[in-house]
Amino acid sequence: MNTVEKIKKLKEEKKAIILAHYYVDEEVQKIADYIGDSFYLAKVASQTDADRIVFAGVEFMGESAKILNPEKKVFMPDAFADCPMAHMITIKEIKEMKEKYEDLAVVCYINSTAEIKQYADVCVTSSNAVKIVKALPQKNIFFIPDQNLGDFVRRQVPEKNVITNYGHCPRHTNITLEKLNEAKEKYPEAKVAVHPECKREIVEAADFVGSTSAIIDYVVQSDAKDFIIGTVDGVFAKIKELAPNKELHTIMDVQVCPNMKKVTLEKILDVLENETNEVILNDEFMQKALSPLEKMLELAK
Ligand code: 13P
Ligand code: SF4
Repeated sequence: MNTVEKIKKLKEEKKAIILAHYYVDEEVQKIADYIGDSFYLAKVASQTDADRIVFAGVEFMGESAKILNPEKKVFMPDAFADCPMAHMITIKEIKEMKEKYEDLAVVCYINSTAEIKQYADVCVTSSNAVKIVKALPQKNIFFIPDQNLGDFVRRQVPEKNVITNYGHCPRHTNITLEKLNEAKEKYPEAKVAVHPECKREIVEAADFVGSTSAIIDYVVQSDAKDFIIGTVDGVFAKIKELAPNKELHTIMDVQVCPNMKKVTLEKILDVLENETNEVILNDEFMQKALSPLEKMLELAK
C-alpha cells in the first residue's frame, strides 16, 4: 500500500476526517475530506460527527477546531506549523486598551492563539470581518492582531473607530507595489485579486479583495482569463481544478507560507498511525475562548 492508500484506510478505521486549508500542498489538499478557507473549516470542525480531526493547517486552526468541538481528538500533522501573526499581540495590550475605552469591542482575527481568544468579544476571519464589525453595538473596535485586515475593515466601516496593533502576516506584507506594477506591465489584461492581509497600497491597486475562498470564486466565475494573485499560491490548485483554462501569475517570485508547507502526506499518516501531536488545551482557556468563536459563527450567518 502506498501512503495515500494507508491514509484512506486508517481514516476509515479510526473514524477520522482530514481538514485542509487552501495553502497546504496540492497532494495534501487532494486527500482531504474538506478543503476551505479558515471560516469554512472552523464551521466544519464545529459540526462534524467524526471521532478524530486531522488538521492540515497551522496551530490556530487546530486549536479553534478543538475549542469548537472539545470532545473530539484533534491532531496536527506538524507540531511546529504555526502562524507567526497569531503571537503578535499581548494580553497586556488588550487590558490596557480595555481600560482606555469603556465602549470597546475586542475583535480577534482567528489567526491568534487560544490564550488571546479568551480576551476577545468576538472572533472573525477575512471572509466575515466587515460584516461582524458592522453588526457590533460598540463604536470602538480593537482589531487584533492583523493591522492590514484591520485597516481594510476600517475603510469599509467608517462609522467605527477601528484601532489596530502592529501584527501582520510576514508572507502577505512581503508583497510590494513595485513588483505588483511590474506584473501588471507584463500582463496588462490580467485582473488583480488579493487577500486583505496585504498592505493598503496593494489592496487599493487590486480589482478584487477577499478571503482565499472568495479569491477562488472570483477567478473561477470571472469572464477574464488572466489573473495576478496576491496570496499564497496554494489557492492555485483549486482554481486549476475548477477552471483549468485560467492563467495565474504570482506577484513575488515566491508566494508560499513556510508553515503550511510543513504539512506532508507522511506526517498525516504518522499522526493517524501513532496519534501523536494531539491538540491539548487548558480547560479554562477552552471555555473562555469558545464564546468569541461561537459568536463569530452566529454573526456570520
Ligand atoms: P483565509 O481565512 O482567507 O483562509 O486566510 C487564512 C490565512 O491564514 C491567510 O493568510
Ligand atoms: Fe499566518 Fe500568513 Fe501563513 Fe496565513 S499566510 S497562516 S497569516 S503566516
